[in-house]
Amino acid sequence: MVHFFYLAAQFLRRLMGLVKASITGVHGYTPDYILTNKELETMVDTSDEWISSRTGIKERHILKEKGKATSDMAVEAIKGLLQKTNTRPEDIDLTICGTVTPDTVFPDTANTINHKIGASNAWGFDVNAACSGFLFSLSTGARFIESGRYKKVLVVGADMMSSIVNYEDRSTCILFGDGAGAVLLEPSNTGFGLEDEILRGDGTGRDYLVMRAGGSLNPPTAETVADREHFVYQDGKPVFKAAVKGMTQTVQQVMERNNLTSEDVTWLVPHQANYRILTSVADALGFPMEKVMVNIHKYGNTTAATIPLCLWEWENQLKKGAKLILTAFGGGFTWGATYLTWAYDQ
Ligand code: ACO
Repeated sequence: MVHFFYLAAQFLRRLMGLVKASITGVHGYTPDYILTNKELETMVDTSDEWISSRTGIKERHILKEKGKATSDMAVEAIKGLLQKTNTRPEDIDLTICGTVTPDTVFPDTANTINHKIGASNAWGFDVNAACSGFLFSLSTGARFIESGRYKKVLVVGADMMSSIVNYEDRSTCILFGDGAGAVLLEPSNTGFGLEDEILRGDGTGRDYLVMRAGGSLNPPTAETVADREHFVYQDGKPVFKAAVKGMTQTVQQVMERNNLTSEDVTWLVPHQANYRILTSVADALGFPMEKVMVNIHKYGNTTAATIPLCLWEWENQLKKGAKLILTAFGGGFTWGATYLTWAYDQ
């Protein structure tokens, strides 16, 4: 029944000629400094073998330059994006930044980005959904395009996880890296674009993956600093299980209501948290790993940046009309799956 109403709504949308949002360009940025597993061996009690076999990660990029922050990585990604799409910064209407490492708690990072790139006619805001930040921002951006009032929306996922990682905690410091990826959303002129999505949240997961202090619940004090509560805390096992379940279920649901099998889908683009999570999700859904974008070995978990960094890296293999399913799971808990058809040939 739900399926019927969904199809009817899709049909009506087409009949009424409603605007569809499409990605018309993608670009990424990672800082130069590479933190290898070998270097981590000198910092905490770990080994390349443990990290590689438990996570698939070999190295991650870290922003080391003093005075640089999340917005600077986002700006680098966006500059490349504007150049390759021949877009003037003053033509941008809106910038949405998915991040859990904003430059400052407030003001938001999106406004800083707009200032730095010269997007003088744009407004912006941040979306805080941890590793689902890009997916949630993409969905939000698409609604603005679909409204008909917005023509050019930047969606960027950017995180400087090194600023909130405790490099004395071996259970988390091996996982994360820094990076940014950005896409341009415009009204589709090819018929391809964002087709469907299922996004979810469950606040009961908030204690498993959290930065405990720094917000209004636990404002910063000497004690919160001494107790290391300004760093990422994660209870890995329950998060692992919930991630596999959440991503598998939402991808399954989105495929079912769009009559897609794993053979119809060109690429599965999962958030890069752990290689074992990626293979578990792919196996459960019947996707061969050749159809799954994986770059976790090079970048680790860059939180909101992993999905656009994948799209950027695979851009020259993406053909117009290709069917992509994006999926993510993150702190909150937050998760979901988005189905889109690729709108251009490189
Ligand atoms: N090196 C060596 N040993 C380690 C390390 C390390 N870096 N880290 C932990 N260990 C040890 C532990 O102390 C433990 O030892 P013990 O058995 O003596 O107690 C043992 O290894 C096993 O630890 P586990 O935590 O059980 O290891 P697990 O196999 O669960 O892997 C991991 C941990 C990689 C964190 C995994 O649980 C995971 O990937 N979880 C999900 C991550 C995720 O998806 N996060 C969501 C997105 S992130 C976001 O939103 C910001």
